[in-house]
Formats: sequence, structure tokens, C-alpha cells
Amino acid sequence: MKTFLKVLLIAITFQIGYTQNHIIPKPVNFSLTKDSFEINNRIAINIQTDNQEVINYTHNFENFLIKKGIQVSSKSKKNNIGTIIITLLKDFNKELGNEGYLLDIKKDKILLSANKASGIFNGLQSLRQLFPSEIENNEQKLTSFNLTGCQIKDYPRFKWRGLHLDVSRHFFTVEEVKTFIDKMSQYKFNVFHWHLTDDEGWRIEIKSLPKLTEVGAWRVERFGDFGKERPYPKPDEKATYGGFYTQEEIKEVVQYALDRNITIVPEIDMPGHSMAALAAYPDLSTKQEPKFVNPGSKFSEWYGNGVFKMLIENTLNPADEKVYDFVDKVFTEVAQLFPGDYIHMGGDECYKGFWEEDEKVQLFMKENDLSNSEELQSYFVKRVESIIKSKGKKLIGWDEILEGGLAEDATVMSWRGMKGGIEAAKLGHHVVMSPTTYSYLDYTQGDHSVENVIYNDLSLETCYSFEPIPENTDPQYILGGQGNVWTEKIASMPFVFYMTYPRAFALTETLWSPKELKNWNDFIVRVENHFTRFENAHLNISKAVLDPVITVYKKDDLLMCELKNSVPNTEIFYTINNTYPMQFGLKYQEPFVIPEGNLSLRTQTFRNGIPIGRSLKIHRSELEKRSSK
Ligand code: ACM
Repeated sequence: MKTFLKVLLIAITFQIGYTQNHIIPKPVNFSLTKDSFEINNRIAINIQTDNQEVINYTHNFENFLIKKGIQVSSKSKKNNIGTIIITLLKDFNKELGNEGYLLDIKKDKILLSANKASGIFNGLQSLRQLFPSEIENNEQKLTSFNLTGCQIKDYPRFKWRGLHLDVSRHFFTVEEVKTFIDKMSQYKFNVFHWHLTDDEGWRIEIKSLPKLTEVGAWRVERFGDFGKERPYPKPDEKATYGGFYTQEEIKEVVQYALDRNITIVPEIDMPGHSMAALAAYPDLSTKQEPKFVNPGSKFSEWYGNGVFKMLIENTLNPADEKVYDFVDKVFTEVAQLFPGDYIHMGGDECYKGFWEEDEKVQLFMKENDLSNSEELQSYFVKRVESIIKSKGKKLIGWDEILEGGLAEDATVMSWRGMKGGIEAAKLGHHVVMSPTTYSYLDYTQGDHSVENVIYNDLSLETCYSFEPIPENTDPQYILGGQGNVWTEKIASMPFVFYMTYPRAFALTETLWSPKELKNWNDFIVRVENHFTRFENAHLNISKAVLDPVITVYKKDDLLMCELKNSVPNTEIFYTINNTYPMQFGLKYQEPFVIPEGNLSLRTQTFRNGIPIGRSLKIHRSELEKRSSK
């Protein structure tokens, strides 16, 4: 009986949690009312503005409801049909700004209002998240349900709420990119940073430079560990892996994003990371040797602390005027395709060794009074900035663009920690915070025994602890932040989703919700609701957060083990005797000794007697190795 009551209580708690507010990112103000709005097969939507963007956003929402089997009419002809009334506010509400909204769910109507169309879009996303999670299941009709009455006032903390996707290391089709954009828009991200070029492929058609895609978009197909195991192309081997977006396709994606309140920031990475461009136009490098598009073969050596050497030249030659003609041609077309304010010029990880070995480059530096390679890089960035400005756009680049002197109006995307961002803000430049430590979504998110292991680790909890405004930094310069999805080790869109979510939830909440409202225990309950939504939508999402975090250490020569997770109402069971962990077995209470012998640690998280998360199994020898790291 006791257990029954406990289960019932938990069920009720969850039910209340569910109907209350599981919106991600958490709204600024949310209060429940006693009302209840009923959808019973039909709904009316009344758009009280002729603003075309509002009409488009609302029509997309209507189509979404129609697919679920709900009949939608434009006016409530009969009194008994609940109506969504959408209005733009006559007087600008300063608190709401451009993207905020008011949502009021009453007994017979839902009122959604905002200053701008973007606010209406965001309000519709919140409304969608208030629907039962079955709404996300494309294979299931859902025509009748109740919405609990509530009032929401909501607006974002930051104006740049970005997600990035690297389509060079792995090529994703237009349809796949659209799925990525669609999902991010539902969680109120508003910037899609499209990493279109790199050593492993050039992905955007530039009509005046056709070889960029004829040659640069294709590489030989290789498998195995990126940058380590993949053999170089054989002489005359045909490059068959890759692809690119035609300009028509780019326009289609740009429009698709605009229909979802998302601005695309295209990145053309230079002067480094340019091996694919140099495969097409070798003359743009110092050695002018024929190159290949890198299939992920070893091309660099890393010595720690970001110090590295390129074994193959992948930099444009900043001392050659031809290069600036090239840059001009590329950005002329890029600027015409993307209506947003910004063009990202990359600027990261530029190896300068080939410049330093080249006599002509050295002479150029003397002539231009440039005393080191950093100043030469800065010279290049400044010239690129003037080209980008001449196309009516603003330059943004990775934090290396600070080295040797920052270009006049450049915005800095801080990735090597926050320090680049802090420095840029001190200089009065705008900053987007995107540090590896909190926002690199390609990093490993769970135990190495069950995850793709890459350069570093980043748990959901760490991601949630991100604060984009450092102490002693003027917040007016921090535009916002961004999560980055590099794809050296992410070779499919299903896996992109697995790596991106739920960590993107943590980021969007950091970037949208008031700092004071952030609360892990509250967040994680909402995340679990969205696990179900993703499952219903047949999209992958990582549940690594449910698995224990295993910490091993030595104490008096004994191998000790600590197990922990940060999800409420869970228990961890484990074995160290090569048997399967069971509900009525050994429950984790405190650090324990892993005995000597040919044995594995096995763990399993349970909630209310039901296994959740994955069963982990790690041999003692591996634990021993971990303890000495
Ligand atoms: C970067 O991660 N190289 C910007």
C-alpha cells in the first residue's frame, strides 16, 4: 500500500508538472489559471493583422494542426469553437521587444499578441509545446484534448541564439538541413550558422568560380578515425563522396529559415581551412602545388595548447592580389544569396608556417611594414572586412581574428574559451560566446564506453551552467551565444540530432530565459518531457544524462569508484561480480572498492523499479586506466 501511494504521488506530481509548464526555454512569466481550453476536432484561427510574415507563420501552424486531423477555420462561425486570436500590438511594448509575446489561454479563446511577427512565431512555438506530446507524432491523429488555462509573458535575454552545423566534414542534403533548422526554430533559436567550407569540402556554388564545386565539393571516400586512420587519395583515384548546394537550393534554405524566424549566417572559412578551395585553385596558395580535398587523412600535428603544424598547405596566400579577387568574387555571390547582416569569414586555426617559409610573402610583409605573421593575418582579415563591407554586410570571425589587431567593426565569435570575447568586448566590439567548454556539441556527452569519443567531454549539466556574460564585461557587447556541431565524427543527420539534443535545450534556455530562472532540477524534468516529444517525432535525442557519471580514483592503492547522476527520482544499481545489475540488487550508496581480478563494473539506473538509460559495462583494466588520467 505504501509503495502504491508513493507511485500514485509521483504520478500526480508528474501529471501536474506536465500540464503546468514544460516549455523549453522557460518563459519569463508563466501563471496557471483555472480555465481550460478545449480542442474538440476543430479550432478557429483569427489573424487580426495583414502583416504577411504573421500570416505565413500562422499558416504553417495551421498546416501542422490540419496534419493532426484538426479542422481549422479562419473565423469561429459558431460560438462553440475555440478560437486562437492573433494580433500585433498597436503600441510597441518595450519589455517584449522584437521577439517577445503574450499568450493567454482562456476558456474559449487563446490570445496571442506581440510587437512583431517574430514574437508571434515564438508564441506559436510555446503553444505547440503546451499541446500533449503526441502532437509531435506524425503517424498519429490527435484531434481532441484540453489545454490548461495559463498566461505567459515571454521575451529573450539575448538576440543571438545560434546553432552551427558543419556541412563540410560531412555533407548533409537540403532536406536534412531543413530538418535541423525546423527543430531549432521550435526551441526559439534564431541564428543558423552554416559552416559551408573547410578542408574536407566546399559546399556552396559560386558561379564565377565553378571549380570550387566541380573539384572542391568532392573527395575520395574514406572511413575510420578522422585525421588519423584514413589513407590519402591514391593517384588518379576518383573523388566520389560529397556534394554541394546550388544557388537555387541555397535560396530555398534561406527562405525556409526565414519562414521559421531564423537568419542564416554563412561561413566561408579563410585563410586557413581552405584545402578544398586550393584543390580547385592551387594558385591561391604559396606553394601553388596541386592539392586534393582532404578525406579526413592526417594533415596536421598537434603539440598541445592549440599549437600545431600543417603537413599539407591549407592557407590562402595573403601576399597575392589574386587571392583578394577570389575573396571578392566569393563574397559578391554569398552576399546576394543571404539577406542577413553578417558573413562569417572563419579565421580560425590558420597555420602560418608556409607563409613564413615563402620569400615573396616575407618581402610583402617588409613592404607593408608587417612585423610578424599575426600582423599579416590581421592585414588579411582587414582586407576581407573591407570586401565584406563593400557588399553591405558585417564581418564576424572566430577569435583568432583578434591576433595582430582586430579589424575595425568586426564581431568576434569566442570559441577558445571566453577570453577572446572578453578582450573583444573591452575593445568595444560585439561578441558571440561559443566556448568549447560549454557549447561544443560535438564533444562527448556521456560515458566513453557507450559514446563516440572525440576531443573532449561536455555533459548536459555543464552545458546548462553556461553564463555568456563574464564578470567585469559590459553586457551591451555580448550579442548572445551559440552551440557548434562540428561533424568530423558525425556522419549522419540522425546522429547530428543525438549530439545536438538535449544539449541545445540547455543552450537555448541560457540564451532565452532570465538568468535567475535557470534551475537544473526544474529544467531536467522538462527535458524528460521533450524526450517523449522527440521519440514521437522519430528523432534521436541523447539520454546520456540518465546514465551514471563514473568517477574512479586511487585511495591507499585501492581502486575506488563513485557513481552519480543529476536526475531526480532515480537510483543507480551496480555489480562488480560479472552479473547483471538488478532492481533488487546492490544499490549505490557511497564510493566503493573495485576489487582486483578479471571483472567489470556494470551499472543501471532505475526509476520506480523501471530501468532507464543504458546499461554500462566497463572492464576493470579500463577503470584502472581512467584512474591514472
Ligand atoms: C573552431 O572550432 N576551429 C572554430
